[in-house]
Amino acid sequence: MKDCYNRTIDYMRISITDRCNYHCVYCNPDKFKFLSHNDILRYEEILDICRVAVKLGIVNFKVTGGEPTVRKGYLSFLRQLKQLEGVRQVTLTTNGLLLDARAMDELKDIGIDGINFSIDTLDSKKYASICGKDTLDTVLNNLLYGVSIGLNIKINAVVGPLFTQSDLEGLIDFCQDLPVSLRFIELMPLGSNKRENRIEEVQSYFALHYNIEEITERLGNGPAHYIRIKNMKCVIGFIEALHHKFCHECNRVRLSSTGSLKLCLFHKNSIALKPYIGDEIKLEEVMRDAIYMKPEQHHFEDEQSGTVMNQIGG
Ligand code: GTP
Ligand code: 5AD
Repeated sequence: MKDCYNRTIDYMRISITDRCNYHCVYCNPDKFKFLSHNDILRYEEILDICRVAVKLGIVNFKVTGGEPTVRKGYLSFLRQLKQLEGVRQVTLTTNGLLLDARAMDELKDIGIDGINFSIDTLDSKKYASICGKDTLDTVLNNLLYGVSIGLNIKINAVVGPLFTQSDLEGLIDFCQDLPVSLRFIELMPLGSNKRENRIEEVQSYFALHYNIEEITERLGNGPAHYIRIKNMKCVIGFIEALHHKFCHECNRVRLSSTGSLKLCLFHKNSIALKPYIGDEIKLEEVMRDAIYMKPEQHHFEDEQSGTVMNQIGG
């Protein structure tokens, strides 16, 4: 469907849990107070909302957390979502720790359209200091297995204050011969994160050391823009939520694990959908009206959105 600014809304990010097996430094780790099981939607309730979303033209779904793989039954949920009539793409964003070969094989069988791994550095000590667990090797093995069975894999690296040139070079080394996307994400100043634009340093590095070519076609449903580099198998992407706002082409809404429909990552307002589950006509009306009024843009510069990453899944 179109919103009142004529943007096509066809992508929903669904957070199926606020829980996570990591405690990343940029994800408001001090404030974790997890929701109780009774507060979060059951899978059937999420699927009811997705069914209505499809009617409204929302056909691409990203499943996030917290960490989505820590919720029991996530694989059969993904299968059911993928099988819903009218659904085009189902993708997953994860830290990848629990995606062993068995899970990967099942994801392949489900027909998952993409898996995004969050990996900020290939220095295992530093990785552990960011996320609280010394698990990089397992994550990389899982990723490589996924690549070997032909899954579409992206790597997300948040460019925070501790990100160095050697992190950048390590990631390039690892990815350059793999058919993956390596994406650099501008740190969003939520919670105690400070605002600083370090992604420009990464872009300058590429411009200085490589012969780059802009990619104009869309790769995925997200806000990343991409470049290609001669002799590199991977493509490189950048997500710059602040310095290159993509609000005018925003295509998405978010569903929190408690069933709130959030229209913008950085706006306080959300609509509780839970009371309408079971009444498909009313649910459709509420969702249609809410999405139509999606805010024109975020004013992150002068607004406190109250956004907590683990509750909304990025
Ligand atoms: P695909 O490329 O299709 O996989 O989608 P994606 O890039 O949206 O997926 P992913 O979950 O990997 O998100 C990557 C980064 O983009 C995360 O840091 C998200 O927080 C950020 N992001 C996604 N959507 C929005 C948005 O609407 N606004 C802002 N500011 N950031 C977003
Ligand atoms: N700024 C930018 N990206 C973030 N992510 C988590 N917190 C932030 C933040 N403050 C990223 C994760 C994951 C994606 C969904 O969002 O690393 O890859």
